[in-house]
Amino acid sequence: MTKNPQQPEVNIGLVGHVDHGKTTLVQALSGSWTDQHSEEMKRGISIRLGYADATFRQIPGVDAPECYTVEEETEDGEETDVLRTVSFVDAPGHETLMATMLSGAAIMDGAILLVSATEDVPQAQTAEHLMALDIIGIENIVIAQNKVDLVDRERALDNYEQIKEFVEGTVAEDAPIVPISAQQEVNLDLLIEAIEEEIPTPDRDETEDSRMFVARSFDINRPGTTWDGLMGGVVGGSVVAGKLEEGDELELRPGREVDEEGQTEWRSITTEVRSLQAGGNMVDEVRPGGLCGVGTGLDPSFTKGDALAGQVAGEPGTLPPTREQFTMDVELLDRVVGGEEDGGIDEISTGEPLMLTVGTATTVGAVTSARSGEAEVSLKRPVCAAEGAKIAINRRVGARWRLIGIGTLK
Ligand code: GTP
Repeated sequence: MTKNPQQPEVNIGLVGHVDHGKTTLVQALSGSWTDQHSEEMKRGISIRLGYADATFRQIPGVDAPECYTVEEETEDGEETDVLRTVSFVDAPGHETLMATMLSGAAIMDGAILLVSATEDVPQAQTAEHLMALDIIGIENIVIAQNKVDLVDRERALDNYEQIKEFVEGTVAEDAPIVPISAQQEVNLDLLIEAIEEEIPTPDRDETEDSRMFVARSFDINRPGTTWDGLMGGVVGGSVVAGKLEEGDELELRPGREVDEEGQTEWRSITTEVRSLQAGGNMVDEVRPGGLCGVGTGLDPSFTKGDALAGQVAGEPGTLPPTREQFTMDVELLDRVVGGEEDGGIDEISTGEPLMLTVGTATTVGAVTSARSGEAEVSLKRPVCAAEGAKIAINRRVGARWRLIGIGTLK
């Protein structure tokens, strides 16, 4: 078992309207990676969060931007140098999955906003996703103007102006706009150059307490496996601080609901790290960046079917508290984005249900007390979160949940 030199070191969100080409772009940038899956991966410790890794490379002796590539060799058979491996978080473009997009944003170090040159700007989710980036405070943004192969020069320039106008006054105001064709693989070198410049790998402090946001959890055993062949439960997610090592003790919060003599309460779970997987390989340790799978000593029934998604893991005794209710400062948006409805957003009222996304956890809460700029909520499912955590606040509007503001946990 070796350390993986190509463990991703930065998470880049890929956001934008449905069908604007997110999947196609990820494929174009990470194509060569998919065959490297280890045996364990094939057996099922794979994590499907819409993540894919890509290794950016440089052709020696060639000027920028032409030197940037994802190919291991040039057409002449010359080896290329590795710059770094990045992990793309592919946020679903469908409007009802806004909360998932926001929970993904909790682990993004930067983002690519993909905009199709074939449609007017902004389309509904383009606007929602940009606002979400704004709210979560993701400042390192590259805008990819995709599908330029389908429009003429005039339309492309028109569309460029629309994008400029749309991002004015937002967090993406100064983001470079790179015209590309993900499908025809045009200008990908320029895009990589922009990503290298705009989305640097953050400085990490390895000595900090380890902290992981759990986004998925699984039972990797095949049906019918007997007890002596049973593998422990697996959690997948992203390390956001410190590092995880094989053999580490791990606490998960909120943990699980325990029913004792008619009383239910949430108790944290403690286990150990039995195996680690990152960048498609089994590794001894995992640092922030990319996605990892942690094989634990837990009963797989605890981890089955994403049962632990949204939880926080780390060194026992160092995690933030589990909260069944909390008070948050509330900042409402000026208007509901992406909707047909015009008009402002009404204040939050006592008794109303809200859908709240905290880290990778999404939970429904009832407002127990609302004042201007502040709300107290009681949660259906508790969350593990520190003071100051950002909370995406969604209200039911018609048939779906709409983002109405951002909270800060008090
Ligand atoms: P969701 O995952 O559903 O949000 O969509 P997506 O944003 O991932 O879009 P996807 O990559 O599936 O692309 C949608 C369609 O556009 C597909 O048919 C692609 O082949 C096509 N497409 C993507 N990029 C380009 C491009 O640069 N040029 C052309 N001509 N077609 C493209």
